[in-house]
Amino acid sequence: MAGKHESRMETAKLASWMKQSKYTVVLTGAGMSTESGIPDFRSENGWWRRIDPRSVATKEVLYADYTLFHEFYSMRIRGLTCCKPHKGYYILAQWEKNNIINSIATQNVDRFHQIAGNHKVYELHGCIRTIRCDSCGTAHAMGDFLDGSGCTGCGGRLRPDVVLFGEALPRDTWEKAMTDIERAELVIVIGTSLQVYPVNQLPFMTRGRIAYINNEIGGDSHQFDLFIKGKAGDILCKLDEIITS
Ligand code: OAD
Repeated sequence: MAGKHESRMETAKLASWMKQSKYTVVLTGAGMSTESGIPDFRSENGWWRRIDPRSVATKEVLYADYTLFHEFYSMRIRGLTCCKPHKGYYILAQWEKNNIINSIATQNVDRFHQIAGNHKVYELHGCIRTIRCDSCGTAHAMGDFLDGSGCTGCGGRLRPDVVLFGEALPRDTWEKAMTDIERAELVIVIGTSLQVYPVNQLPFMTRGRIAYINNEIGGDSHQFDLFIKGKAGDILCKLDEIITS
């Protein structure tokens, strides 16, 4: 009971901060998509609990064991076909439309924010739905990757346009996200363990308030001005009820 009560109070507090804030940025992670049926990485059913990321998600594996690389990413791409954005995503899209939030920086590669209708989205770790040749950069259809084809131009290896371990983040996207977060009066962090550098530094670059919505506390709770423990979709619905009432 106490926990529920507390979460209601914290949710109301965040809603009031959102109403006051003239510039709000949302930062999402894999916990935003678990309610859509996509596993995250580090919680109980997460990918990295079953597979060592270094064995499937690096540039080295792309060249040393393409079969394994291809199998892992094909499985993740196919996994998306039966999933769709949940109600929390549509709330974020509506908030952007109504100027309640200004942009979303995401670590997710599923493109659900855009599918739900958000326009200002910074994909910090790329997108798994777009395919390119690792050698010459030529774009290819997703089917070409799933078929196991090579690049039609140069014969190079096809890969999804995601950031692999050891690769740099897309610089322009990173800079835009950082600029937005620096100027934000409020940053709302949703569904991320904040274990992965450099994105885990982003929330703390703001001079504004930082709220963290997650089903468990990740990192040091004193770093946040507010922590709401709960499921992303549920909390977003509750916030929306308060904001629109
Ligand atoms: P993680 O799996 O590390 O963290 C997800 C967090 O969301 C965990 O703290 C979960 O407890 C929480 N969570 C899960 N479901 C939730 C829900 N319904 N509501 C609220 N919280 C929930 O995922 P990320 O932090 O996103 O990078 O991982 C960061 C990066 O690590 C990923 O982008 C990926 C991975 O390696 C690359 O592939 C480059």
